[in-house]
Amino acid sequence: MNNIKDKYEQFEKRNTAAELGGGEARIKKIHDSGRLTARERIDTFYDPGTFVEVDKFVTHSCTNFDMDENRIPGDGVVCGYGKVDGRLVYVYAQDFTVFGGSLSRTNANKIIKVSELALKMGAPLIGLNDSGGARIQEGVRSLAGYGEIFNLNVKSSGVIPQISAIMGPCAGGAVYSPALTDFIFMVNKSSYMFITGPDVVKTVTHEEVTKEELGGAMTHNSKSGVAHFIGDNDEQTIMMIRELLSFLPSNNLEEPPVVDATDDVNRIDESLQELIPTDPNKPYDMKVIINSVVDNEQFLEVMPNYAQNIIIGFARFDGRSVGIVANQPNFLAGVVDIDSSSKAARFVRFCDAFNIPIVTFVDVPGFLPGTIQEYGGIIKHGAKLLYAYAEATVPKITVVTRKAYGGAYDVMASKHLGADINYAYPTAEIAVMGPEGAVNIIFRGEKDGKAKEKRVEDYRENFANPYRVAELGYIDEVIYPKNTRIKLIQALDMTKNKSESNPPKKHGNIPL
Ligand code: HXC
Repeated sequence: MNNIKDKYEQFEKRNTAAELGGGEARIKKIHDSGRLTARERIDTFYDPGTFVEVDKFVTHSCTNFDMDENRIPGDGVVCGYGKVDGRLVYVYAQDFTVFGGSLSRTNANKIIKVSELALKMGAPLIGLNDSGGARIQEGVRSLAGYGEIFNLNVKSSGVIPQISAIMGPCAGGAVYSPALTDFIFMVNKSSYMFITGPDVVKTVTHEEVTKEELGGAMTHNSKSGVAHFIGDNDEQTIMMIRELLSFLPSNNLEEPPVVDATDDVNRIDESLQELIPTDPNKPYDMKVIINSVVDNEQFLEVMPNYAQNIIIGFARFDGRSVGIVANQPNFLAGVVDIDSSSKAARFVRFCDAFNIPIVTFVDVPGFLPGTIQEYGGIIKHGAKLLYAYAEATVPKITVVTRKAYGGAYDVMASKHLGADINYAYPTAEIAVMGPEGAVNIIFRGEKDGKAKEKRVEDYRENFANPYRVAELGYIDEVIYPKNTRIKLIQALDMTKNKSESNPPKKHGNIPL
């Protein structure tokens, strides 16, 4: 092996071996299951030609179970960095063809290396997960690797965006690192997350459940609230990650990227004038307002299938990223309950951590009453949303479209929680409680139905409007619905250089 040609040939051979992972047969099995390989996913994710791989030739050092005779360069995870829309992003992609993408000690070291680089360089970290969990042959060494990854996930939380995609069967330790990251994507019908699979569930609890029901993409997107996005296949899911990144800064010290705005900042929408029904009990779709007012009707909804009584997601105004939180009168009348509070609170905290202003649309009849909610801890969970809004120091702009009653009025980015600009439509009803409830309490002795009706009417007339609150200065301006876009852009422009900070502390104690 003395001549240069041989050396280059050996280099090529090693490259080919690493790129082949667990071999042709296992790659075929991946393709037959509708999935892409780790390398194909990476190619799809990055701007063409920008991916740089690190640790391609790393192998495991396990000798148990004759593992020393079974070493594959790369050891089941492809790691590196590249560009997404020209910006630096780090990635690790588990290769299911190598020991089921399971996590060995060296495999963990590779993930830790790119995670540390991402944290040091201030760039997002993306995990494309496809793993059977801890590499069973390695025992506790693998658990140590997981623990160190979790530790780093927590250290990076709020410093760089961390995004996970679940792209195959992920079990055991493979689900806990994603759970610590900011957003989880799942691929419909080919990805699963569970702490333990259906067989163990049957043994322990005698429940019979399919893996789709237990931990499929729709289960985690609609029932558990563990996942935030669902894609139809690997390619579409990866494109959704790129889209999400386009709204985010690379780290907590940067502002979100600004894109060239192509939508008129002075655009008015006459159709919004007629959208809010005069009957306060009649639903309407809050997404019509959101889509109408944001740039180019582009709204990336987060968790669209979970707790649909609250809407969260990203959009832009005049090219600048905002996070949107909105009650949805079309679903459970937009009531605040346990799931919607937790969903919105985490989103508000994410936006605040990454300098993304928050625009809140309010139409909320109150908190959902009843034993299910009380026993489930609505007091504690509702407090999360209060906490998140009060803690957030990014620009906070609020629009009350119709109802804002009671505690829910306070919660939904009211002036009292530090919102910078609070708008209300002329259709707004802002009061301590709804007219019927208020009359029932104040005029408890009133038996005459007609007289009661009149009192409800009087209450609505006198209290269920935006003007009482505007007189107190808690609403800064009553605006026409058609002008919402112009008004929001004005407010976001006015608050652009907002500088506010909370008292110094180690960290707060959000009610978890
Ligand atoms: C080593 C593993 C592995 C693992 C899969 N493989 N999981 N090797 N350690 N954890 C290997 C298989 O032996 C097989 O090797 C190949 O990967 C593909 O696996 P299949 O079972 O053929 O694939 P599939 O039918 O698609 O099933 C995928 C699966 C299943 C659902 C993930 O493999 C499975 O149940 N694995 C074990 C999951 C598990 O219990 N993990 C928990 C580990 S403990 P060949 O050579 O045949 O291709 C844990 C605790 C951490 O993670 C806690 C931290 C908080």
